[in-house]
Amino acid sequence: MSENFEPRLLAYCCQWCSYAAADLAGAMRLQYPPSVRILRVPCTGRTDILHMLRPFEDGADGVFLSGCLLDDCHYRTGNYKATKRVAYAKQLLAQAGIDPDRLEMYYNSSAMGPQFAQTCRDFVARICALGPVYATENKRAIA
Ligand code: FES
Repeated sequence: MSENFEPRLLAYCCQWCSYAAADLAGAMRLQYPPSVRILRVPCTGRTDILHMLRPFEDGADGVFLSGCLLDDCHYRTGNYKATKRVAYAKQLLAQAGIDPDRLEMYYNSSAMGPQFAQTCRDFVARICALGPVYATENKRAIA
């Protein structure tokens, strides 16, 4: 894998917990890679399968969802629904020849700024190890 590879990553963060955790990480001046683009959503349960798959079509190398801790969703079961959808979307990615590890579900409360920053660093490291999505998987899928 190229050392110059900078992954393009998208993170759907629920506004109640994970987005606040990202904010806290920033306020605490905790470093996490700028390659993670955060998109605030009302709840991870609002995130559709298409929201998980479409970014790959548009060139993302990885996507993750970060919601409230299980049983702490402000809409009761949104993060459970998102967890199920992520599992299903992973199957679809595998069928399309894309490594399902490029999609993940995480849980962070609003007080978990350091953990959120670590989540970002861990996910970036995972995707860097996999390399660019169109340089590896799609070549195999097309061949
Ligand atoms: Fe945060 Fe549902 S409100 S995951």
